[in-house]
Amino acid sequence: MELSQIEKDFLKEIEKVESLEELQNLKVKYLGRKGALTQILRSLKELPLEERKKIGKEANVLKEKMEKLILEKEKTLKEIEERKKLEREKVDLTCPGKKISLGHLHPLSLVLREIKEIFQKMGFEVVEGPEIETCFYNFDALNVPEDHPARDLWSTLWLEKNYLLRTHTSPVQVRYLEKHQPPFRIIAPGRVFRHERTDAHHEIQFYQVEGLMVGKDVSLANFKAVILHFFKEFFKEKVEIRLRPSYFPFTEPSVEVDIRLSAKRKAQSAKVNTKGKAQSAKEEGWLEVMGAGMVHPKVFEAARLNPLRWQGFAFGVGVDRLAMIKYKIPDIRLFYQGDLRFIRQF
Ligand code: FA5
Repeated sequence: MELSQIEKDFLKEIEKVESLEELQNLKVKYLGRKGALTQILRSLKELPLEERKKIGKEANVLKEKMEKLILEKEKTLKEIEERKKLEREKVDLTCPGKKISLGHLHPLSLVLREIKEIFQKMGFEVVEGPEIETCFYNFDALNVPEDHPARDLWSTLWLEKNYLLRTHTSPVQVRYLEKHQPPFRIIAPGRVFRHERTDAHHEIQFYQVEGLMVGKDVSLANFKAVILHFFKEFFKEKVEIRLRPSYFPFTEPSVEVDIRLSAKRKAQSAKVNTKGKAQSAKEEGWLEVMGAGMVHPKVFEAARLNPLRWQGFAFGVGVDRLAMIKYKIPDIRLFYQGDLRFIRQF
């Protein structure tokens, strides 16, 4: 092909090039190993000397021209791309920001936090125990032997062998007693499980906070003072409490604690009465919220502590029930349904 034709074609084509990739292809087409101009330069050696000199010179001039044009085009294309990129990445500082929606704590977590804080201020340490328990800690060490009817009080969800889902937080008492020398005061918050029919006040999983205070002369009077203070702080109002005789195999004597809030809460209170036990209590606005008592000597013995040296009180409070009263929630199942319309109200 004639050099002049090559030049013409090249000029026409480079005019149309719009991207760096196209430019690279063009470069290969004309100046690459098999390119049009390269072919000519290669075939020079077959020409007579005079012609070789002439055409060789012209070809080299053309080659330089092409290279120069390619470089210029490359520069222009790069500038255009850079401009486009900047255009794409333009930041409009006046644009309103995207709202990041923050989550928040579940009402039960809020209540648990609050309970911990109140007890910590009274010098209680917060400890934890496992949700999967052994029969020993959940029952035996708490003075509930295998054939004892009291086992029926806690409808147990059994796992393999000797394991079960703890039915209350009381096993943490034993675990702690085994490893620590009194005096001490602890609370043990956590989830518990029962094989029960659910209703507005019963769930198959719920939260309890266990309390345990042991010393040389810790008494039920101390217990009364501690929980009275707790309820006052928790409900942010004066609360009346009433201790009713009750039965737990791991406390002696045992009590059930009822609370009564101010008049403005009474209507709600009746709804949230826990076990629907005492009809008369309901009518008066009393609510049963926890079981408690003086630690049974057998529990100290199971943990290899001398019951003649140590004494103390223990209690187990239903966290869900406290949350229901505090936030006026009519049905315990709402806590576990994950319904955002409910959750977002807290
Ligand atoms: C117990 O679980 C004892 N471990 C409490 C205790 C601890 C007594 C230490 C003495 C010393 P009870 O089964 O009554 O006791 O449960 C305690 C509280 O858990 C109840 O008062 C109630 O508030 C709550 N509760 C019980 N069953 C349910 C349930 N199915 N759903 C929601 N809350 C419940």
